[in-house]
Amino acid sequence: MKIVIINGTEIKGCTFHIKEIFLEDLRDNNEVTEFYLPKDLPYFCCGCKNCFFKSEEKCPHAAYVMPIWNAILDADLLVFASPVYALRTTAQMKSLLDHLCVHWMVHRPDEKMFHKKAVILTNAIGVFNGGAQKDIATSLAWLGVTDIKKLGIGLMEGVIWDELSNKRHNYIINKTKKLANRYKKAYHVHMGIKVSLKFYFTKMMHQAIAKKETTLSADNQHWADKGWIKKNYNN
Ligand SMILES: Cc1cc2nc3c(=O)[nH]c(=O)nc-3n(C[C@H](O)[C@H](O)[C@H](O)COP(=O)(O)O)c2cc1C
Repeated sequence: MKIVIINGTEIKGCTFHIKEIFLEDLRDNNEVTEFYLPKDLPYFCCGCKNCFFKSEEKCPHAAYVMPIWNAILDADLLVFASPVYALRTTAQMKSLLDHLCVHWMVHRPDEKMFHKKAVILTNAIGVFNGGAQKDIATSLAWLGVTDIKKLGIGLMEGVIWDELSNKRHNYIINKTKKLANRYKKAYHVHMGIKVSLKFYFTKMMHQAIAKKETTLSADNQHWADKGWIKKNYNN
């Protein structure tokens, strides 16, 4: 199995340790590729919309975004590891998610996403992990991912890994390894009902817009090339 890790911080702190615990029993039998943000995508989306209207290759940050997107497409399991910042995911993680909007169902989805597994690992000093997880899960769902598991750790005792008690470490290790166990054996992911509905309704939308276009937009051309909508509505 191919695993891609998107690290939402470069600090080798709690997020890093939790992600390493998750990977511990998976590294040997799987191929792991890691990206660290913001190092591997040091720019925010500038809003040029080249991706939407022309091609994702025309994004001014394509040299950073494309290797990450291609690794995601190539992987079986996607792991997003992020600390909670101001009750949300980190800005650098959000920046990557913004750059991937072009592959949302409302634009140009890739069917490879329909069969992927994803894990969202977050941690916070307190208990509120939900906002950060939702930031990532919402994007994944619109990218077409069905099988999404979330683990939110409340550190409670502090924000420095080595200063947490053994009891807290053990609690985190047990929870994280239990989730990792789920991925030791390969299994096939079927497109779920929510993703299927998103696909169905966006297909209707793309079809309705394509009927009025003399030249198909980049989005609708993609849907037509995939055979998801008709190529020509004039005959
Ligand atoms: C800028 C910043 C903002 C944070 N905001 C929150 C927050 O809103 N709620 C919370 O419970 N923890 C918050 N934390 C703690 C982090 O979620 C995380 O638990 C901590 O940084 C340890 O992870 P790390 O070592 O990977 O950075 C914040 C940390 C930082 C640096």
